[in-house]
Amino acid sequence: MAPTRRCVLFFFLLLFLLFLRHRRAAAAPVYTEYLYPNFTASSVNYLEKGGIFLNSNSSIFSAILQSDDPQSPFVFSIVHSPTSTVVWAANTANPAPYTAKLSFSASGFSISFSNGNVLWSTPQLPRPATAARLLDSGNLLVLDAANVSMWESFDHPTDTLLSSQRLPSGSYLSTPSDDYRLMVTGNDAVLLWSVGGFQQFWRLSSDVRFYKDLNAPVAYMAANESGLYLFSPAGAVVFEVSLSPTKLRMMKLEANGQLSIKGYSGNGPNLDEALVAPGGACDLPSSCQVLEVCTTQNQGATCNCPSLFTTSRSGGCAPADGSTLFSPSGCNSRNKSQESYRSLGSGIGYIPNKFASTVSSGRDFSSCRDICSGNCSCLGFFYSASSQSCFLIKNQIGSLVSTTNDGVSDTGDGYIKVLASPQPPSGSSGSSSSSLLPILLPSIAVFLLIIVLIFAGTQWWRRRRRHQSGKRKARTTASSKPSTMKDIYLGRNHPWPSPSDDQGFTGDESNSDSDEISIPGLPTRFTYSDLAYATENFSIKIGSGGFGEVFKGQLPDKTLVAVKRISASLGGGVHGKKEFCTEIAVIGNIHHVNLVRLRGFCTEGRRRMLVYEYMNRGSLDRSLFGAAGPVLEWQERMDIAIGAARGLAYLHFGCDQKIIHCDVKPENILLHDASSVKISDFGLAKLISPEQSGFFTTMRGTRGYLAPEWLTNSAISDRTDVYSYGMVLLEIIRGRKNRSVESSGGGGSSSGSSGIGDVGYFPMAALEMHERGRYLELADRRLEGRVREEEVRLAVKVALCCLHEDPGLRPTMASVAAMLEGTVEVTQPRPEALNFLRLYGRGFVDNNSSTTTGELVTGTTSSSSVVSYSYMTSQEVSGPR
Ligand SMILES: *[C@@H]1O[C@H](CO)[C@@H](O)[C@H](O)[C@H]1NC(C)=O
Ligand SMILES: *[C@@H]1O[C@H](CO)[C@@H](O)[C@H](O)[C@H]1NC(C)=O
Ligand SMILES: *[C@@H]1O[C@H](CO)[C@@H](O)[C@H](O)[C@H]1NC(C)=O
Ligand SMILES: *[C@@H]1O[C@H](CO)[C@@H](O)[C@H](O)[C@H]1NC(C)=O
Ligand SMILES: *[C@@H]1O[C@H](CO)[C@@H](O)[C@H](O)[C@H]1NC(C)=O
Ligand SMILES: *[C@@H]1O[C@H](CO)[C@@H](O)[C@H](O)[C@H]1NC(C)=O
Repeated sequence: MAPTRRCVLFFFLLLFLLFLRHRRAAAAPVYTEYLYPNFTASSVNYLEKGGIFLNSNSSIFSAILQSDDPQSPFVFSIVHSPTSTVVWAANTANPAPYTAKLSFSASGFSISFSNGNVLWSTPQLPRPATAARLLDSGNLLVLDAANVSMWESFDHPTDTLLSSQRLPSGSYLSTPSDDYRLMVTGNDAVLLWSVGGFQQFWRLSSDVRFYKDLNAPVAYMAANESGLYLFSPAGAVVFEVSLSPTKLRMMKLEANGQLSIKGYSGNGPNLDEALVAPGGACDLPSSCQVLEVCTTQNQGATCNCPSLFTTSRSGGCAPADGSTLFSPSGCNSRNKSQESYRSLGSGIGYIPNKFASTVSSGRDFSSCRDICSGNCSCLGFFYSASSQSCFLIKNQIGSLVSTTNDGVSDTGDGYIKVLASPQPPSGSSGSSSSSLLPILLPSIAVFLLIIVLIFAGTQWWRRRRRHQSGKRKARTTASSKPSTMKDIYLGRNHPWPSPSDDQGFTGDESNSDSDEISIPGLPTRFTYSDLAYATENFSIKIGSGGFGEVFKGQLPDKTLVAVKRISASLGGGVHGKKEFCTEIAVIGNIHHVNLVRLRGFCTEGRRRMLVYEYMNRGSLDRSLFGAAGPVLEWQERMDIAIGAARGLAYLHFGCDQKIIHCDVKPENILLHDASSVKISDFGLAKLISPEQSGFFTTMRGTRGYLAPEWLTNSAISDRTDVYSYGMVLLEIIRGRKNRSVESSGGGGSSSGSSGIGDVGYFPMAALEMHERGRYLELADRRLEGRVREEEVRLAVKVALCCLHEDPGLRPTMASVAAMLEGTVEVTQPRPEALNFLRLYGRGFVDNNSSTTTGELVTGTTSSSSVVSYSYMTSQEVSGPR
């Protein structure tokens, strides 16, 4: 019987132990809002509470000892409870072993090892602590007897900033490894890569999604439910981005260096992503491995080694000839004569160069190289002959980026320092090829120039012949007026729908989709009668564009709107209702201060209407070319140019999907009150059904603003908009249409003028005056000298860079905005890439003189089949008008 008795005894003992254990667990209370001294916690005794020992009043945030399991180290953190997101951590870099304890005493919080040594603690407090308090904002306070806060977790941010938390200038968020930092500076906020040094790879002021409100120093950064802001010392907004409102805003510096702004809607276990900066998949220093070239492709990125490099065993790329990459560690003891350089080839850039300043002394290739060779921490350099810029890469190098594909301005060709292998491979040594380069480059350039000239010449000659035959044809069949050039260049005669009015829409209403279409993110839906009422039955027409007429209206809440009635002639081509709504949802969700906001839409039967915010000054062409009204002052013009550039940059790189405007012109740049500038008519090509969009992808745009690639069958890209923008910028500078003849003074005596008065085609005049260094003559005469030459020079140079014939040589819209704002050095226009302007210009003069020689009949028809191709479409081909 003894064994049974022992068994029963053991059973009771077990029960007792279990009871004790239960007691111990129950003895570890979870506090609400306040915690008082003599508190001690280990991760084991809060295990059953998930490590939580303190909740904020509404349990939105909790203070917790975070560990994966009872035996693993813990981190003292504050988490957002509904989403289990860590928003602050005391000791991420040094997790505490599970035997360690967290305590709160009169001297504050501390984590100590089992032997009593302190691992982490709050700094020494001025007075004894009497309580700790966790607020519903996520801030943890240590209070003294008078309830005055002596220490706050908000003052010691880790990688996250919450609504109502301020990040003062000079302070930063950092990743747990401290590889990356988000630093608020005296006038900006920047992302830094901080391995072995600091390389900037993003700056808030050059991100087009942020809007500058004020010229003032920056005192702190803060986010709230409706956006992220940089504030001046007086608390005014300097920079801002507006985001769709949410309950709680959270901004986090991710482990890869990306800044992500999130929101919590108040329910569910997930945060919503609101904005990620930098926006591009290749804009981070570690998008790919070391020296791999990142290329964006359909939202993602691909990584490849440059041509003279191969994948190295240790990851990343190494020179294919077997030489080893130079490393700054212990470089002083190395033999300098073994150093040489390997070229990365052209079309490859480095993101931090965008934010670095060029070395002032290295103004030619060899001195740039010598500066790098002379410095132990230099790993390589980028040199651009056209802008004579020299960028050194110091301490560390990350991944590279393809400049042809991504929104990166070209900072020249890169050279990477290597230590030559013992037996230098014949011929391919970087130092010999680099010494040859200064000799080779000019001859290559001349050779290319000749080819370009020959090509352009033959093109021009062929066009001229066509034009002559066109004229002949026009003379013979003057009554039938086919759009000759359109036929030629589109290779087919497009069956153009004839305009009719709304009644034409009644057709196959029955087979349109049901009226209840629910697509998330759809803006307000109006009925036809709502809009007929708002616009007083479409009585006040304020414009007409590629997609139909625009009417002024007023909604019942008194807000003014512009109602665009999509042309009936597109009725047959407009998408089905569902597709239309999907596109509307996309356009309706694009919010940028420089893009016209879509407020709503109407789709009834086959009627399609769009409701936009109303811009009271109308389009830029009115203010710029209009005879009435005051002349636009120079600063105002530049503000408009910068706003438009930022809006376009956002379309290109700021949205989830890249949107190419395709019809950038003054008519599509709208103004409001004193200083608001917005781009309109973006994304509309998407509203047209595939049969018709086939036409639009073949050619869209307006004569005078059309990039050459529309006619050479090259790919249409964001740089196509850059070209059109360049043309608009020239018009902003001059205050007149690029293709209008300026009558200097009065009468017809323009021939004697030595200025530009007699030059009809302004882009050519701009090029010539740029070459002669005379800029002031290009500015609008109506300014009567109220502009300085440097200001005009800057704008003209930027415009000319936008007009480069090769789309790859044009800057991105984001760098255009930065150059105009003066945050980035302006690049030099390349004359060889602009020679085609002279051909256009001569075509204009020829054409123009032919009209003045009295050939009236020929003159009018020739305007529909002009020599130069910037001109050749008389119809505005942006759409049916
Ligand atoms: C905290 O503990 C210390 C020593 O263990 C003791 O002297 C003090 O009275 C305690 N305070 C409170 C508020 O319990
Ligand atoms: C704490 O929450 C309760 C309700 O949950 C509320 O009545 C009370 O006002 C809150 N206290 C503070 C200080 O916010
Ligand atoms: C400090 O705050 C607590 C809780 O709100 C309160 O009970 C206490 O009276 C306050 N003490 C002082 C000195 O204000
Ligand atoms: C957020 O801050 C900005 C700038 O101070 C302010 O204009 C805006 O109204 C704030 N939003 C909310 C929801 O408080
Ligand atoms: C450096 O290397 C070169 C050839 O590799 C050799 O001729 C020279 O003596 C070396 N200099 C030193 C200081 O080792
Ligand atoms: C090399 O560059 C580093 C970093 O910019 C600089 O501190 C150092 O003075 C330079 N050394 C020489 C020899 O120029």
